[in-house]
Amino acid sequence: MCGIVGYTGKRQAYPVIIKGLKRLEYRGYDSAGVALINDGLHVFKKKGRVSDLEESVVGENIGGHTGIGHTRWATHGEPSDRNAHPHTSQSGKIAMIHNGIIENYAQIKKELTAKGYVFKSDTDTEVLLNFIDDIQQKNECTLEEALRIALRRVVGAYCLLLIHKDDPETIIAARKGSPLVIGIGKDEHFLASDASPIIEYTKEVVYVNDYEIAIVRPDELILKNLGNEKQTPFITKLDMELAAIEKGGYDHFMLKEIFEQPQTIYDCLRGRLDAVHGNIILSGMNQYAEQIMNAPRIIILACGTSWHAGLVAEYIIEELCRIPVEVEYASEFRYRNPVIHKGDVIIAISQSGETADTLVAIETAKEQGAIILGIVNVVGSSIARKSHAGAYTHAGPEIGVASTKAFTAQLAVLTMIALKIAHEKGSINNERFMHLCKELADIPEKVALVLTQAEAIKVLAEKYKDATDALYLGRGYNFPIALEGALKLKEISYIHAEGYPAAEMKHGPIALVTDTLPVVFVATKDSYHEKVVSNMQEIKARKGRVIAVITEGDTISPTLADDVIIMPPADEIVAPMLSTIPMQLLAYYIGVAKGYDVDKPRNLAKSVTVE
Ligand code: F6R
Repeated sequence: MCGIVGYTGKRQAYPVIIKGLKRLEYRGYDSAGVALINDGLHVFKKKGRVSDLEESVVGENIGGHTGIGHTRWATHGEPSDRNAHPHTSQSGKIAMIHNGIIENYAQIKKELTAKGYVFKSDTDTEVLLNFIDDIQQKNECTLEEALRIALRRVVGAYCLLLIHKDDPETIIAARKGSPLVIGIGKDEHFLASDASPIIEYTKEVVYVNDYEIAIVRPDELILKNLGNEKQTPFITKLDMELAAIEKGGYDHFMLKEIFEQPQTIYDCLRGRLDAVHGNIILSGMNQYAEQIMNAPRIIILACGTSWHAGLVAEYIIEELCRIPVEVEYASEFRYRNPVIHKGDVIIAISQSGETADTLVAIETAKEQGAIILGIVNVVGSSIARKSHAGAYTHAGPEIGVASTKAFTAQLAVLTMIALKIAHEKGSINNERFMHLCKELADIPEKVALVLTQAEAIKVLAEKYKDATDALYLGRGYNFPIALEGALKLKEISYIHAEGYPAAEMKHGPIALVTDTLPVVFVATKDSYHEKVVSNMQEIKARKGRVIAVITEGDTISPTLADDVIIMPPADEIVAPMLSTIPMQLLAYYIGVAKGYDVDKPRNLAKSVTVE
């Protein structure tokens, strides 16, 4: 949450920063702002989107070769002009942007207030900034030194960029818990929360580590730890093309990403799954193969949609590998006192690789001796780097705030992991293994078939768009897909929706059923099918409006379902990758029909780097 961009070099900083902020808007869009050095310090900030900021600076002096910019997801203080970043210090000399939370800001604020500081905003950021300013004045030291002293006192998470009026070519940055990438150009440097603002200028980047401070000038990048010792920057080559972060003719990133799924799942399987010879190569896990195979249990940690992928994996791993699996919300796990044994295997699932709760949960488990496998989309992200081993999902940049292609790629990786363990353990026979490898390899093609129904789903969206509530029901492997369907609808169309195990519906939610309530049944042909059909009958008997996702050839009576969406046949182990596609499309088209900004739903952010 919150996106940060910085530039220092030969170009004009403002256009680089604005373009970068637009690419990072998925991280928050409550307000935006820039600070530029151009014969003094100039700060422009505005509540709303980056485009609102652009409108507000027309006619202003936005020149300068060094600057920082921010797009905000509000934590401390409501979205407003005055709470927007950058903040300026009371001395008027320093501007700062921040992604994260300063947990002990209240105590520091009290101390500064007692010294006569007056605050212009409600943010924790302004408190930290004045704390740094105060230290600099008191110690008559450099900004870098003042920052280092201040950070020793700070509890919380941060990525900070600072510029000083009297040092017009330098950006000072610091990171703990919130991401920071620095792009290296010729006589120029780019700083950002992720690589998307940088990719068009350079492919050489440095991922800054926690507790590091970067001193960045056009021709110089110095990295130091908090003990003031120089660190060697580790330069990585970005493996990403500019086209991957553009809309490519689609109306929205979300639609583009839904339609990319045949390719992204294929990319995820490519070079790993050999369905012809029955081989699965997950080289990032080889080192821990023995421990994973013999794990007495597996704990899966994740949030949101990634947690739903974990639930599907629970069903698959238990079925195929006969290893008990617990799936936990990372936010709960980290604060209770979980029993972790040395050698426990933990799978952390995260698209962004930056979700604060998941990150802290794995750090806690790691300290207690657990082995962490990261299933992550963003290469080089914090969770990927904190994990002992893992597998990238290779879905490419996901920019729509609602997760779509990352989810199906997570399912593909998790299915490969389960199949590999099961095969090597011998908990499934070779025939079943070969069959499932083939079923998995066929998924990209079948997803493409499901996508041909997009227009029909759009028609359904028109029909159901005015509903105020919806129920999503499924059993077994499709129960998490019901949860995911409800989550997608809530976040994109703001319709209240609940996902439930279909049988559990009788224990409460059935009271909601009326002739206006749409009930989406994820009812593909699997071992639970007959039971789900019985649940459908129970809904229909109460006049609910049933939308059924069924398998081709299924002869569900037309009296049972008002509308059907037809899936190609697939083994129940891999079917969730198909049945989730209509959930995504239905939510997308309803959101669009209602006129909402589906790529940036209200109050949400793509990368939740606060707890
Ligand atoms: C929903 C969605 C969120 C994320 C959650 C975890 O569409 O995108 O629920 O799944 O915030 O994020 P990651 O996977 O980045 O850890």
